[in-house]
Amino acid sequence: MNGTDEKYWTLGGDLRVARMGFGAMRLPVSTLGGPANDRETGLAVLRRAVELGVDHIDTAAFYYHGDLSANDMIREALSPYPDGLVIATKVGPHKGPGDLAPTGQLETGELRAEVERNLRELGRDTLDLVYLRHGGLEPPGEESIAERFAVLAGLREEGIIRHLGVSHVSAAQLDEARAIAPVAAVQNWFDVTRPQDTAMLALCAREGIAYVPFFPLGGFGIPDDPRLKEIAGRHGATVPQILLAGLLALSPATLAIPGTGSLDHLEENVAATGVRLTDEDLAAIDEIAAGPDTP
Ligand SMILES: NC(=O)c1ccc[n+]([C@@H]2O[C@H](COP(=O)([O-])OP(=O)(O)OC[C@H]3O[C@@H](n4cnc5c(N)ncnc54)[C@H](OP(=O)(O)O)[C@@H]3O)[C@@H](O)[C@H]2O)c1
Repeated sequence: MNGTDEKYWTLGGDLRVARMGFGAMRLPVSTLGGPANDRETGLAVLRRAVELGVDHIDTAAFYYHGDLSANDMIREALSPYPDGLVIATKVGPHKGPGDLAPTGQLETGELRAEVERNLRELGRDTLDLVYLRHGGLEPPGEESIAERFAVLAGLREEGIIRHLGVSHVSAAQLDEARAIAPVAAVQNWFDVTRPQDTAMLALCAREGIAYVPFFPLGGFGIPDDPRLKEIAGRHGATVPQILLAGLLALSPATLAIPGTGSLDHLEENVAATGVRLTDEDLAAIDEIAAGPDTP
């Protein structure tokens, strides 16, 4: 780990965002199969996030549970949108009305309609950043994403998408996309205790592409490691704050989008930008990452 204090990153060369953002997937429901969250709390979380300086919100039209939709909540809580608020969304997965999670991929010919659905639900004329989300949760493969990414590149040419991203991709798939159109961000599965995607992060940092991990807090539960607790204890911080501060310290290109449906967790996560990790802390986190995976 290098350690960096950079507060901002400029997406695609023209959209400046604070590196501590917000992931909207947990607004409708905090855990897969869990009870629906409360709509009013979700709206309050979004408004408080913006008050706290969050100006990068990550969402998708398939983030819904019952009649709670993240996109609808974002529109209701925040529109008319404040200047400079960047809303990133993603298309690719198919999720039917009764499904808890995506069950497959949209056909190439369905991607335009999914982009238009995001425009409608968010109440925007242009989408700031749209990722092509590829595959399921298995490790990214080598199959071509060119045909699907080219559809989004066409919509960028039309002007309804400002910047493009790719999500859950291999280096070869990123190369394939970049040969078609500029890629402003990569959103892959990563947290500081899970080193598998380190080479992709390094590649993004080198190429000026934002690296925006999903599941930055472990996704399925906060990693339970005594060494993380020890670092947290020394800083009077929590383990989620150490995970986020560690992520931001990795490289100026990493953007955090922790997801929560809780006001207290939101405050805690945003406050992680104030945690200054020492070289010793960063070395200890590197050691955790080098060891066996935290489940
Ligand atoms: N591209 C993709 O395939 C993909 C996949 C997954 C997610 N995403 C995006 O990435 C964002 C981040 O991932 P994520 O939200 O799934 O996972 P995450 O940020 O790793 O973890 C979220 C979970 O941690 C809990 N949590 C949050 N802050 C906490 C805190 N301070 N203390 C204790 N627990 C806390 C949340 O529950 P509470 O609600 O109770 O706080 C939720 O269950 C998503 O919101 C979404 O925008 C993208």
